[in-house]
Formats: sequence, structure tokens, C-alpha cells
Amino acid sequence: MASPLFGPGDVLRLEKAYAAPEIVEQRARTRAALGARPGERGLDVGCGPGLLACELAREVGPAGRVVGIDASPDMIEASRARAAREGLAECVEFTVGDASRLEFPGETFDFVVAVQVYLYVHEVERALAEAARVLKRGGRHAIVDTDWDSCVWLTADRDRHRRVMEARVGHFANPHLPPRLPGLLRAAGLRLANAGVIPLLNLRCDPASFSVGIIGATKNLAVRHGLPRAEADAWEADLRSRTEDGQYFFSLNRFLFVATKP
Ligand SMILES: C[S@@+](CC[C@H](N)C(=O)[O-])C[C@H]1O[C@@H](n2cnc3c(N)ncnc32)[C@H](O)[C@@H]1O
Repeated sequence: MASPLFGPGDVLRLEKAYAAPEIVEQRARTRAALGARPGERGLDVGCGPGLLACELAREVGPAGRVVGIDASPDMIEASRARAAREGLAECVEFTVGDASRLEFPGETFDFVVAVQVYLYVHEVERALAEAARVLKRGGRHAIVDTDWDSCVWLTADRDRHRRVMEARVGHFANPHLPPRLPGLLRAAGLRLANAGVIPLLNLRCDPASFSVGIIGATKNLAVRHGLPRAEADAWEADLRSRTEDGQYFFSLNRFLFVATKP
């Protein structure tokens, strides 16, 4: 089955959400775990609006190359515009592509990274096998993904909140992927080298925070997946009303894995 397509509205939404300090920090931790070196070739699978790919392009420098692929032509257009704006067109390129069918020869890349992508990919075993195939021997695959069971959000009505989240995660092919990843990486022929947790924590209803940035999309996706509109509106109104200090709490775990190709 095809992954849900991200459109122009999603580009703007993700660019805003990914400017949140906690997501900037997530990218920094991902880059630190990956350890890209000058001159290396890297692949960013599901690059979205291209923030991480451009940061990695600076690390590999003019002697290296980063390729970003994404299923969404709108994300690729936004990524190309970002690279041009940031003067990186020489060391990064972007193209439409599918995580499960990588159009590169075997052993092309020193590293492959996939951040918040495999949760959308139905053929995740195939996508991991593809990442392993295009890696050089000794190459690294870094993955950041979410288990939505780790989401804690302070709300007035816990039963309503549970119904919102159950409907919302219906949008993902794999809403609980991280606990399975060590086994899936091994099955793909990769060796787990490093695993960690990146906690996202918001204690204020700040419009610039990640969690406030995803309230609207969470509500809309829950409605699309069967939640009554009135219930979704009431859930959103409760969260947005929590503007006083001490009234707002959100936490979500991102899980970071780095596996190598023996
Ligand atoms: C939540 S965004 C993450 C973007 C980016 N990796 C980041 O963290 O900044 C998920 C991205 O994965 C892309 N995507 C989903 N399924 C895909 C697939 N099968 N192949 C390639 N890209 C895919 C979407 O188009 C979207 O841009």
C-alpha cells in the first residue's frame, strides 16, 4: 500500500514544527550519533523539507555529497529551495523516491538516515533491506522513530484524549515501530551499534513548541480516521486554553538507533 502523500500544506506545517528548539536538538543528536565526516556520501530517506539533509551537507562538505529522497514532490521542491537559499546546491541533491525501492546501486553510501519516516512505510522490512543494500560495508544507518504509546499529554478528559490518539495513530502504518527495530535491523543484516531515547518535553502552551504545532494536524487526522468532529474540537479547545503556567504538559519519546553494515 502507498504511504500517505504529504502536500504543500504539510511542507509549511513541518517547517514550522521542525523549527521548534526540541526538534533542532533532535537533529543535533541525530547528527552526533551519525558522525558524518568530510568527503562522505550520505542518503536522507524521507527527507521532508530538507533541514537535516542540508545540515549533513555542511558536515560532508564540498568533497562529499548528500542525497535526499522523499515520496512527496512538494517536499522535494521545498528541499531544493532550501539548498539554493543556503548555498548548498553543490553538495546536496533532492529527488522524488520511495524508501522501499531505492534507485541506487548497492554499496553507494557511507551513511543512510531516516527520521520519522518508517512509521509511514508499510513495507518497512523491505525499506530496511534497501537501506542495507545501498550502504557500503562499515556504513551506518541512523533511524529516529516514535512509539506513540510514549505520548503523555495533560487533558481534562482522559477517555476523550485516548479516543483522539487512537484515531490519530490510524494514519501511521507503524505507530509502535521502535521496540521492533532492533529485531528488524538484525533481520536486514545490520548490526545495532547504538540506541538511545530523545525525549520531547513541553511545559508551556507555546505556539513555537513542537506539541502546540501538532495540535491542529492531530485533530484533523483523528477526524479523518473516524473521530466525531465535535469531540475533536473539544479536545483541541481544552489544550489551547491551557495558557497559564502549570496547566500544560506534553512529552513524547523519539528513539534513535544506529546500525552498521558488517
Ligand atoms: C514526518 S516527515 C519527516 C521528514 C524528515 N525526515 C524530518 O524529520 O525532518 C515524513 C516524511 O516521510 C516521507 N515519506 C513517507 N513515506 C515515504 C516513502 N515510502 N518513501 C519516501 N518518503 C516517504 C513523507 O513524504 C514526509 O516528507
